[in-house]
Amino acid sequence: MPVKLLSCIDLQYWPTPGVLPVDVPLLDLRAQHAAIKDAVMSAVSSVIDRQQFIMGPEIQQLEAAVAGLSRTKHAIGCASGTDAILLPLKALDLKPGDEVITPAFTFFATAGTVHNAGGTPVFVDIEPDTFNVSPEAIEAAITPRTRAIIVVHLYGQMADMERVLAIASARGIPVIEDAAQAIGASRRMNGVSHMAGETGWAGTLSFFPSKNLGGWGDGGMILTQDDAVAERMRRLRLHGGMKTYYHDEVGTNSRLDTLQAAVLLAKLPYLAGWSAARRDKAAAYAERFRGLDEVRVPVTDPANEHIFHQYTLRVDRRDALQEHLRGRGIGCAVYYPLGLHLQPCFAHLGYQPGSLPVTEAAMQDVISLPVYPELSEAQLDAVVGAVRDFYN
Ligand SMILES: Cc1ncc(COP(=O)(O)O)c(C=O)c1O
Repeated sequence: MPVKLLSCIDLQYWPTPGVLPVDVPLLDLRAQHAAIKDAVMSAVSSVIDRQQFIMGPEIQQLEAAVAGLSRTKHAIGCASGTDAILLPLKALDLKPGDEVITPAFTFFATAGTVHNAGGTPVFVDIEPDTFNVSPEAIEAAITPRTRAIIVVHLYGQMADMERVLAIASARGIPVIEDAAQAIGASRRMNGVSHMAGETGWAGTLSFFPSKNLGGWGDGGMILTQDDAVAERMRRLRLHGGMKTYYHDEVGTNSRLDTLQAAVLLAKLPYLAGWSAARRDKAAAYAERFRGLDEVRVPVTDPANEHIFHQYTLRVDRRDALQEHLRGRGIGCAVYYPLGLHLQPCFAHLGYQPGSLPVTEAAMQDVISLPVYPELSEAQLDAVVGAVRDFYN
């Protein structure tokens, strides 16, 4: 049985033990671990030998390495990808009624953090081809109360940052890049390649185990070019003070564990190869799905280098296909079945079905297939064969 994951991973595809064979799990972390076990175990065991579990040297080493990868001046480890969004939002000192614009087609944390930082999420629609937030929709949603814009680089490709940045900077609004799904993704903007998290006021990463760079538990990181923002993030993650028992402001405990940093440091050298392998799997799927009218393969914006955190199709009769794939032991998941604007916890904001039509269409027809680097040719063929059988 593959490893079970909670939270962002859809658990629906896990079969009842002994009832169904899982031929192709949605993600196979055991295969990844088997390939790199010695490197990770030795990194972890050196932390255990040293017994420095809080703010050990691996934190700074990882921060430096991820800042280098993301081409940011600073990278600040924190407890999760959720906290990586929450802490920058806290630094904005939002007052009741302050608005933060965010797409509705994303994981809950993108907007839950806005609420938890004291602001009001303002949900906007996405582009139908990339699933990323629409710059026009952002522009139309700006009001005098807009305090920030959150852009999500969904499924592993960057949103149209240059247009968002132009809209935001003309009005002095900070942009947070939620790059939880896009570590190492890049985009050519005005002829120059930029990394996910490089050009926003702050960028955020998640090291949730299923992410392209996943830890052995929760973890996250904040990216920024701004010295003052970095200092504030370092304080906020340590109860608001850099000197033990002295607190300049009220922060929280949101440190990245040293053990997680050691795991992530050991995995980091493999990340570029893993992302390239994911791109290869995506290309192989696109080739094999050619001519199947019921299946629309993912569209990569030509300016983007995609890291395929997810390989997400748009399909006819999605729910029936999902049932069929599960019956064949093929892992698949729907990210995301209900837009955040229609979640019961945000009902008071007054969005109705029809408010965000592109998001609502995507909710009905997206399905993500296995795309991890260790996916074999035979497994990929099994996935494609099962999809083709369904439509034939
Ligand atoms: C787009 C997005 N934002 C934020 C998060 C939150 O990250 P974490 O689970 O590490 O808190 C996730 C999922 O993990 C995500 O996919």
